[in-house]
Amino acid sequence: MKSVRVFAPATVANVGCGYDVLGLAVYRPGDEILARLTGNGKVSLDLVEGDEGRLPADPEKNTVSSVVIRYLEFIGSKQGVGISLYKKMPFGSGLGSSAASAVGGLVAVNELLGNPLSRRELLPFAMEGERLACGNAHADNVAPALLGGFVLIRSYDPLDVISLPVPDGLCCALVYPHIEIPTMAARQIIRQNIPMTDAIRQWGNVGALVSGLYSGDPELIGRSLEDVIVEPVRKMLIPGFDRLRDIASVNGALGFGISGSGPTVFALCGNKNTAGAVADALVDELAGNKVDATSWVSEINGRGAVLL
Ligand code: HSE
Repeated sequence: MKSVRVFAPATVANVGCGYDVLGLAVYRPGDEILARLTGNGKVSLDLVEGDEGRLPADPEKNTVSSVVIRYLEFIGSKQGVGISLYKKMPFGSGLGSSAASAVGGLVAVNELLGNPLSRRELLPFAMEGERLACGNAHADNVAPALLGGFVLIRSYDPLDVISLPVPDGLCCALVYPHIEIPTMAARQIIRQNIPMTDAIRQWGNVGALVSGLYSGDPELIGRSLEDVIVEPVRKMLIPGFDRLRDIASVNGALGFGISGSGPTVFALCGNKNTAGAVADALVDELAGNKVDATSWVSEINGRGAVLL
């Protein structure tokens, strides 16, 4: 096998109440990565498409190639690899764009080399890509992009990632207003100290959301998508956020929130039709405020990154 092409999906990090500890994967959008074996013993970036020239061309500084370099060092391989990156997601969108690229690169090269590491073993390398991209090695995008489904990061040290069940039919509407919010900046505005009353409410919601997923209770899932810690600060970056929440609710969403660090918003819905109606209504509302937006509707992606 000389080359492999991988699709790595967008992800919704935080999922409301779970800042840095909850994430889910969707089927679209996503990035594509082609990796090929070369004879020159180096990791090179052959092509980067769809980034408007914004990503670093230096393989040590580009997220995808740098995680592949660390991975090859770890497994003790001197194999040369050429990487082509096809960016199909916007930057600073809250869709886990950098995570998808890093995961796609790792899955592709691991496959080329006969899968010496499991998906879970690839996680720490993908997390280092997040550190390079935004200064923090959170796992709530890379874990669902690698493993698929809905995941909980119980602990970062030691890393303990738990895959959660997803009730049948659960569907996600994603609406991306065409503004850019760099993750690093969106992390810097969050309070580092929070009142105990907020913490109590938040961990009640995280526990209840996990319970709702296990019991397949859509109403419980919906009312647990409440974030009293991060959303009240970050929502100021998203035009008309409170109105968007109301519109999602009126159109039948179970729950609504900011996807990752935004500006994409997400709504979990009981079925695809409702998710489609919610997405359309949110796009219309943004258009009324002169904000262009793109939407996607997807079931929860149980597979994560896949070979094409
Ligand atoms: N948990 C991270 C954050 C995800 O909210 O900053 C970034 O996509």
